[in-house]
Amino acid sequence: MNFEEAKNRIEALSKALHQHNHAYYSLSNPVISDFEFDQLLQELIQLEQQFPELLSENSPSQRVGGSITKNFKTVAHRYPMMSLGNTYNEQELFDFDQRIKKQIGDDFEYVCELKFDGLAIGLTYENGLLKQAVTRGDGTKGDDVTANVRTIKSIPLQLPIGADFPATFEVRGEILMHRTVFEQLNKDRDELGETAYANPRNFASGTLKMQDSKEVAKRNLDCFLYFLIAEQSDLKNHSESLAKLKAWGFNVSPTYAVCKNITEVQHFIQKWDKERYQLSYDIDGVVLKVNNYEQQQDLGFTAKSPRWAISYKFKAAEVETKLLAVTYQVGRTGAITPVANLQPVLLAGTTVKRASLHNADQIEKLDLYEGDIVKVEKGGEIIPKIIEVNKSKRDLFAQKIKYISHCPECGTALIRKDGEAQHYCPNESSCSPQVIGKMQHFTGRKAMNIDSLGDETIEQLYHAGLIKTIADIYDLKNNRNSILSLDRFAEKSVDNLIEGIEQSKKNAFEKVLFGLGIRYVGETVAKKLAAHFRNIDQLMAANFDALIQVDEIGERIAESVIQYFNKAEHLQQIEKLKAAGLQFESNSIEKVVEGENLKGFTFVISGVFSQFSREELKDKIEANGGKISSSISSKLSFLVAGDNMGPSKLQKANELGIKIISEEELLSMIKTLPLQ
Ligand code: IVH
Repeated sequence: MNFEEAKNRIEALSKALHQHNHAYYSLSNPVISDFEFDQLLQELIQLEQQFPELLSENSPSQRVGGSITKNFKTVAHRYPMMSLGNTYNEQELFDFDQRIKKQIGDDFEYVCELKFDGLAIGLTYENGLLKQAVTRGDGTKGDDVTANVRTIKSIPLQLPIGADFPATFEVRGEILMHRTVFEQLNKDRDELGETAYANPRNFASGTLKMQDSKEVAKRNLDCFLYFLIAEQSDLKNHSESLAKLKAWGFNVSPTYAVCKNITEVQHFIQKWDKERYQLSYDIDGVVLKVNNYEQQQDLGFTAKSPRWAISYKFKAAEVETKLLAVTYQVGRTGAITPVANLQPVLLAGTTVKRASLHNADQIEKLDLYEGDIVKVEKGGEIIPKIIEVNKSKRDLFAQKIKYISHCPECGTALIRKDGEAQHYCPNESSCSPQVIGKMQHFTGRKAMNIDSLGDETIEQLYHAGLIKTIADIYDLKNNRNSILSLDRFAEKSVDNLIEGIEQSKKNAFEKVLFGLGIRYVGETVAKKLAAHFRNIDQLMAANFDALIQVDEIGERIAESVIQYFNKAEHLQQIEKLKAAGLQFESNSIEKVVEGENLKGFTFVISGVFSQFSREELKDKIEANGGKISSSISSKLSFLVAGDNMGPSKLQKANELGIKIISEEELLSMIKTLPLQ
């Protein structure tokens, strides 16, 4: 395909994909299957790789992410992002209504909307294209998170051609994470020994600030829009603007209502206070806005918020029940979690039997006694919380809850490190839930994915004394007869089991690395480490500084990796797994060829870059015919300098008269003719 043909095809594919996206996300009326959609998208991605100069920033391919933002740019809001006044009860609501009436009389309407519990975002569109997405920040300036926002599928990158949107406008809304997505992702974190997020809002907020937009794309954020700011528009009121936004393809929640008076507002509030638990996302109240724009103008603003709008905050649902017992769970990493077992009670639509107590400090803070009557609350969090003890109902002879000193599973004395809230059982190698949990993690779907060796089978084999470490799994083939003697096993199922284990040896290094269960080394981190260090020996040899050079690897992860490889038993285990034939080396990735503009030039890359990671820049240079060198010598053509580059490299390059270029200059060399 030549350039002109590619251009036409890319345009046609982009147009079709934008339309299908609109049909799916805004109209809930898909025209083609997911499979067909993916095929068109893949074709587009391939063409854009072949003709990188035809890639536009609003291409539907940008949904999958790919860009890295090291530091988010701070940008000023063109219109300040104000907050809303709050009301917490009916009296405050009536007072608000009275203040409005005093100023504009009785003839007005409210628009009532849900108050989405997420993060405010301002989206700027120019000529129908998404140009910029900025977080609320301090209200006057926020972070430019455009690359990450482009991955949110319900946010249109391009508005329908021919629709009557203004040339330039801003639309504001709330980015959020649906509860089911939150629960699944949090479970994944928990399994990794990473701290779980307390609620979907925090998770959405953490996601929006991730450096790698590909990761953001995987987290399925959503966005509801509720506010249009346009200088040139003949819209008369807010409800018209919501209808317009909807027509232009924005995700406007259909839950809003126009209310003629405060009684209707009250009904709206009562309805949603009850029905909020049926929504797939969290709301924390209702927002009421005076509908008419002229009346809004008459009412004006205070220093912080509009006088024409206010929020009504729901009370968190709470109920009293009896504490039956405190039990303690031991996780895969040895972390101890105390759990309150409660007399079952109905709260916010579900029966609550248990509540997390987090750690020893929390129990101390609550001053918890056996058999206490406790107040349980379901706020933004998924797991209910004990917020206080009703001390007036405490039994005179009740005993204070005493935190355990030894592991409930293996009896080892617990430890608690300075500055950490959690107690740990240090008996990593023979405390059953830790040993079993580690093996289950290793064979799990995201690691070695051994179907024939499910969680229950692991427990069974462990209790039969056949496996104690992940390395033992690969010895099972020598124990056929012992396995056959176990319940639920026959020749065929043993064959399947052994075959599944053998097949797992083909898994890529990154899967093995993730499977080892190094604290804080999740799927993404394992991928980054495997791509950077290429094999386990180089990873084991890496010191702290080398580790934190890698994208997304911070101090906490680096320390954890070093600690892991400092243990002799871990090294022995790796040797055994190597001997069994598992992959401890990255397969060299097929080299992509993009062009030849850098042919004949040698580059050193140093420092931190804003658009690409160092690894990506290296790949790009090689894909365009250039060579990478690790040290500065007179043979070098260019030093590509990013932020925080070491001064010695700079000095040496200057001494040798080597040309120093920026990331942008490198990229323009790739796109156009080489610099001389
Ligand atoms: S209108 C000037 N509508 O609540 C009016 N805000 O407490 C600006 N929020 O910063 C906001 N749902 O992040 C509006 N339907 C809704 C909302 C909403 C949630 C958030 C928003 C705002 C905060 C104010």
